[in-house]
Amino acid sequence: MIDLHCHVLPGVDDGARSLEEAAAMCRLAARDGCEAMVATPHQRRGEWWNADREGLAALAGELQDAVGPGFRVYLGGEVHVDPELLAEVEKLPGGGVLPLAGSRYLLLELDSLGTPRGTIHLVHELVVAGWRPILAHPEFIPWLAPDPDLVARLVALGATTQVTAMSVTGDFGRRPQAHTWALLDAGLVHFLASDSHDTRRRPPGLRRAHDLIAERWGGETARRLAADNPRAVMENRPLPEAV
Ligand SMILES: [Fe+2]
Repeated sequence: MIDLHCHVLPGVDDGARSLEEAAAMCRLAARDGCEAMVATPHQRRGEWWNADREGLAALAGELQDAVGPGFRVYLGGEVHVDPELLAEVEKLPGGGVLPLAGSRYLLLELDSLGTPRGTIHLVHELVVAGWRPILAHPEFIPWLAPDPDLVARLVALGATTQVTAMSVTGDFGRRPQAHTWALLDAGLVHFLASDSHDTRRRPPGLRRAHDLIAERWGGETARRLAADNPRAVMENRPLPEAV
């Protein structure tokens, strides 16, 4: 399995606070059956602007050295959506936004005050420009979570979605779980990720959610969400067709 969404870079957002904690998160993920993770610090969000791509890359390198070669750490960002985002993405590869592992996939955190209209426009523009937007945890976006039809519309435009492992398992409560299960029922989920922040309260690990998905929606679906689709991101190719 490959975990595409982790706040594991130390000291840059509300995730890991030290290199030791970051390395411990990687070890937990490895023990849980992950072979790699993408470090995705918050970007363009309030106090966590994190536009220093070289600095973040150096931190990811330090973390890789600390955990050793048996577990791979890649770099990306969880990019908060704001009205200037499209202009910033247009500056890539020079802009301050980090795609996942140097691919054309962008992990986007929609604003809780965003609008369907603005998001449809954003997804359309990004896809036309050759980007592959991944909507992070739609189950927590207040105006999107209760509206699978809108998710379907965004997916039809070329977006994909990532649900959070602890939402699948119900660790965040019934409501996010219900929204997540509805998206799974509708076949509108493409990625399972941990969105881990530490080793205890929001730890890494996809296994429990993977197994629950395998039980309810089949082993093939679980493997696609936790392994096959993330691997396509790592290799910067389109997602394999769902069968
Ligand atoms: Fe996150």
